[in-house]
Amino acid sequence: MNLQNIFGTKYPIIQGGMANIATGEFAAAVSNAGGLGTIGTGGMKTEEEVRKNIEACKNLTDKPFAVNIMLLNPNADEVAELVIEYKVPIVTTGAGNPAKYIDKWKENGIKIFPVVPTSSLAIRMERLGVDGVIAEGTEAGGHIGDISTMALVPQVCDAVNIPVIAAGGIADGRQMLAVKALGAEGVQIGTSLLVAEECPIHQNFKEKVAKAKSTNIVVTGRIGGIPVRLIKNKMSNEYIKKEKEGWEKEQLEIFTLGGLKKAVIDGDVENGSLMAGQVVGQVNEIRPVKEILDGLYNGYLKELEKIKCL
Ligand SMILES: Cc1cc2nc3c(=O)[nH]c(=O)nc-3n(C[C@H](O)[C@H](O)[C@H](O)COP(=O)(O)O)c2cc1C
Repeated sequence: MNLQNIFGTKYPIIQGGMANIATGEFAAAVSNAGGLGTIGTGGMKTEEEVRKNIEACKNLTDKPFAVNIMLLNPNADEVAELVIEYKVPIVTTGAGNPAKYIDKWKENGIKIFPVVPTSSLAIRMERLGVDGVIAEGTEAGGHIGDISTMALVPQVCDAVNIPVIAAGGIADGRQMLAVKALGAEGVQIGTSLLVAEECPIHQNFKEKVAKAKSTNIVVTGRIGGIPVRLIKNKMSNEYIKKEKEGWEKEQLEIFTLGGLKKAVIDGDVENGSLMAGQVVGQVNEIRPVKEILDGLYNGYLKELEKIKCL
């Protein structure tokens, strides 16, 4: 069964569940445009906030959508119950192991797609009975693993017999065709959707993404913290300086606390965390989400035809 049939979407494209960004409204806009919209609950502090976003999404689309749960968040247990209550069709998970929720989610007909940065984690997830995995390479924006999409995706595809979705470094049809050639059934994208007109990030952040080149991207946390890929600014320079000075992981985490919200809500592009991936250099135009998704999928079909003619 192909991914469109598994999800019930027009395209085999998932919008990554970006914390503090992927609201119910944005997820609905993506689902209405043919992708799988995903509500990112990572930055939602209260049960009420999660409820409001799921209800907004349900009111704005009759298409399937997903909820992303960051498993290390203190509210993960609550969100795990809410997805059952609201009959959310698909759950994606990040930052941890969803083992304790899986049986109950499956009993309730929820499809489960954890994000994995290694093939060993993909194997463990398959044993737990998940429906597929999202293999995210280090090119991605936000929190990252070490292995590139090019190296990771074929290894995950060889390791498991469930659908694999590729994430990290995909912004146009050529990259989508490439990961399909590596064995992926579909793609998850984040950075290229930051410039969607419907994406509810501050205009300053959006313009930074549209203008940035791939050489403006840096990873903080490689030395002593938690690795995060973002656009270089005053905050990232200071963070890396502190890492080199030997700051502890906890101190570094406190230093960046609330950084993404500063960028997303306040539009503070100097002190905020401008999370974005290596494809930022390809993402230059602010345009409707439908154009981004149509462009990606039609570009993929066009590239596929070109290859067939070779
Ligand atoms: C600003 C930003 C925030 C993100 N937050 C989350 C998150 O909360 N949970 C998650 O599973 N992935 C998160 N991601 C990763 C995306 O879901 C997606 O896998 C990734 O962006 C794909 O790679 P790309 O950025 O190269 O398109 C985030 C990515 C970005 C750019």
